[in-house]
Amino acid sequence: MFQPQIYLQRRAQLRKIMGNGLVLLPGNVDAAFNYPANQYHFRQDSTFLYYFGLDHAGLAGVIDADSGEDWIFGNDVDMDDIIWMGVLPTVKEMALEVGVTHTVPYKNLEDAINKALAQGREIHLLPPYRGETMLELERLLKIPAAGLKGKSSVKLIKAVVSQRSIKDQYEITEIQKAMDTAGLMHTKAMKMAMPGVWEQEIAGTIEGIAMAHGGPVSFPVILSMNGQTLHNHDHSQYLQEGRMMVVDAGCETSMHYASDLTRTVPVGLRFNSRQKEVYEAVLNANMKAIEVIKPGLFYRDIHKMAAAVLVDGLKGIGLMKGNTQDAVEAGAYALFLPHGLGHMMGLDVHDMENLGQVYVGYDDEIQPSTQFGISFLRLGRRLQPGFVITDEPGCYFIPALIDQWKAEGLHTDFINYTAVEKYKDFGGIRIEDDILVTETGNLVLGKGVAKTVKDIEALR
Ligand code: GLY
Ligand code: MN
Repeated sequence: MFQPQIYLQRRAQLRKIMGNGLVLLPGNVDAAFNYPANQYHFRQDSTFLYYFGLDHAGLAGVIDADSGEDWIFGNDVDMDDIIWMGVLPTVKEMALEVGVTHTVPYKNLEDAINKALAQGREIHLLPPYRGETMLELERLLKIPAAGLKGKSSVKLIKAVVSQRSIKDQYEITEIQKAMDTAGLMHTKAMKMAMPGVWEQEIAGTIEGIAMAHGGPVSFPVILSMNGQTLHNHDHSQYLQEGRMMVVDAGCETSMHYASDLTRTVPVGLRFNSRQKEVYEAVLNANMKAIEVIKPGLFYRDIHKMAAAVLVDGLKGIGLMKGNTQDAVEAGAYALFLPHGLGHMMGLDVHDMENLGQVYVGYDDEIQPSTQFGISFLRLGRRLQPGFVITDEPGCYFIPALIDQWKAEGLHTDFINYTAVEKYKDFGGIRIEDDILVTETGNLVLGKGVAKTVKDIEALR
């Protein structure tokens, strides 16, 4: 946990932005895995963590923008809890660690809400994303669960996004720790990527590294020779010489700050010439973003710059043709890169995605594009110092997509389908780094994990 002042300042700032009303932040509860007493490892809600820091199930926080008071609603452990889980601090003791002096039993929350509603006060909610939270809010507010999203407070969403988007030095230190662990995970995976090795063995090994350093993984490990499937969680194959292995994996620190790294390596010791050519086209796109990321630029423009570098690379291989900028504006590159360049990262690997991408990655100045490919860009708005973002271009050969575009005659001015046909067995490549936007430019987080062809080959 951070020092209490951090949480006090965050809540005071939120109160200032909100001006009035009651902010209700339900923490998460334990969720059943396959029967009620066998539960998923507990994961606290990230916004609750941001303002209240307490990593325990069954709490709710209230920030009163009128009175200036903060409240934690929660129950002390009873004897059954002590027998099974040991002694825990009281809610009062825990709350003091995050600068909250008002604590009450959880059952009082309903009365507090009824009182506020009777007084005609506004209760600000964030959109809930877990079934248990929806049912609880339905009970407390008498709003049907299906209607809760529509009742969430845009003012609160925007306020939370404005605060959580800018990472302070303590948060960056946490993210650096998560990057260091991710570095160990990826270096181990690269060394294991030899012909005959079962993908599952590598996936399990690197997940174990995350757990051993505070863990868990920040999202289910993506690891496959079939990297053309963007989020491939199937690890059932045995690695084959001549293929490439994509590993997209990160971890959380014990305070739940995330990392999100991707590396792609050839199975075996060396890149073949075809792999090297495509790999370097993606690497150049990744490096272009690092070269230009700085405050004030729209991340959508940086996505397009990286896409242009990829197009140039693919033109060099004979897979694309024509004018590069026209190919980017037309969205022709999305056959190979059907996702965005990156997203925010912090307490969530896709930071704050539950609050609505249109508020997190876009604003009054820029709205999401509807063009295929760039429509999946989760962050388009102007960069600010303190943002932590990902830079993750890729190049994928997705047979079903190639067949569809070819049949529809899409972008024949820019795509050399005859050449692309020969790459349908290639798989995919993605290279991802996590980047802090600084006052003057950017800083690639972490100690550095092999990324150039030379460094990857040297490692093995
Ligand atoms: N690391 C997975 C993703 O960014 O979607
Ligand atoms: Mn990512």
